[in-house]
Amino acid sequence: MGRDESPTNSPAQAGHLRTRWAELHLRLLDRLRLEFRATPPFTGLTIGICLHIEPKTAVLCSVLLEGGAEVILTGSPGTTQDDVAAALQETGVKVFSRKRDDATAHLKNIRRVLEFDPHLLLDNGADLIATLLEARGTHRVVGATEETTTGGNRLREQLRDRVPFPVIVINDSPLKLIMENEHGVGPTVVEAFMRATNLLVPSRRYVVFGYGSVGRGIARCLRALGGHVSVVEPDPIRALEAALDGMLVTDMEDALANSEVFFTATGRPGVITGERIARLPDGAVLANAGHFSWEIDIAELKRQAKKAEALSAGVDLFTLQDGRRVALLAGGEMLNLAGGGGNPIETMDLGLALQAQSLRRLAESHKLLPAGAQPVPHDINLSVARAMVEELSRH
Ligand SMILES: NC(=O)c1ccc[n+]([C@@H]2O[C@H](COP(=O)([O-])OP(=O)(O)OC[C@H]3O[C@@H](n4cnc5c(N)ncnc54)[C@H](O)[C@@H]3O)[C@@H](O)[C@H]2O)c1
Repeated sequence: MGRDESPTNSPAQAGHLRTRWAELHLRLLDRLRLEFRATPPFTGLTIGICLHIEPKTAVLCSVLLEGGAEVILTGSPGTTQDDVAAALQETGVKVFSRKRDDATAHLKNIRRVLEFDPHLLLDNGADLIATLLEARGTHRVVGATEETTTGGNRLREQLRDRVPFPVIVINDSPLKLIMENEHGVGPTVVEAFMRATNLLVPSRRYVVFGYGSVGRGIARCLRALGGHVSVVEPDPIRALEAALDGMLVTDMEDALANSEVFFTATGRPGVITGERIARLPDGAVLANAGHFSWEIDIAELKRQAKKAEALSAGVDLFTLQDGRRVALLAGGEMLNLAGGGGNPIETMDLGLALQAQSLRRLAESHKLLPAGAQPVPHDINLSVARAMVEELSRH
């Protein structure tokens, strides 16, 4: 059979083809597709989703459609792949997101998803839940899942005691922390750094802010490739882990004075503040892996610059008043997603299988679960871990 070599693929066609590759390797989602086909858990239910729009998300949506759901989707700022969004629209998913969307457009998209009055939410950074609580009451929502560390933090801090329905925080699953955050994000952030900058990794001086599973994955990968890696981490136990992993544990002063490339992975705002930008060395490269770009004060970077140049799609160069130059990768958005190919398919298979199973649990038994943020039910963790070990053992 001949290959489809048409050079005139529309964006939607390209999106379908790229989704096809992910589909071949999302083995756990494929198992769930068969289960959902046999016993659809979402018949008559609308699921509102905020998740990075890329091929793996498209496959999750197709599995939820198979389970009988109506699916309404938006992405996160800067990470939407427009060809995949176009392809999804052709499958019946309603999509409100474009790669170029800024924070204002993103909020508008979030509101449009909520206008469909969903029964279940799949959230990313707690944007849907926070907007729902602010603007409209909770209407028909009976339960939600939350993908990220940042969303989990928001639910337990700013939104604490305000969410009247159960929210299963997928990120808290030990499976996701190990397989996605640590083994998936680290290498893909480093790969995206290499792709964006075309620089040699060994013998450069890096600092990683935050030694959670994301920071640890980045630091270990840089070190394995021959980089000199320092870590800034306020939690003494995690700092000890970093030291035992062979990282140079340091403080902000030392990091600013002695590093060339700065990776933020804390999930918290204001790590590289305006005052710290003013002390960066000439040639500093800034990259963020945390969920929001707020870890780097980009507005202040722009304010302090006398010249800003977009050198390529992923590299903005700022010349500060005294002539020092600072590069910002992927506009400060999550580097591996906004500037790279995203996390490896198998790592996302695990997280998305946790998502799909948790949504099924919420559809079937939300009344049995307490309100507010909670971990993935243990039986779901065990069944997904077992299935993943089986799949990895087939390689
Ligand atoms: N890029 C991706 O694909 C991807 C995937 C998963 C998670 N994330 C995001 O990455 C971020 C980190 O996730 P995690 O699971 O490692 O979180 P985590 O909470 O486990 O770890 C964050 C660490 O940062 C430390 N920290 C807090 N403030 C700091 C500061 N000012 N300076 C230095 N360290 C500081 C904390 O003590 C903590 O140890 C979150 O925003 C999460 O949503 C991104």
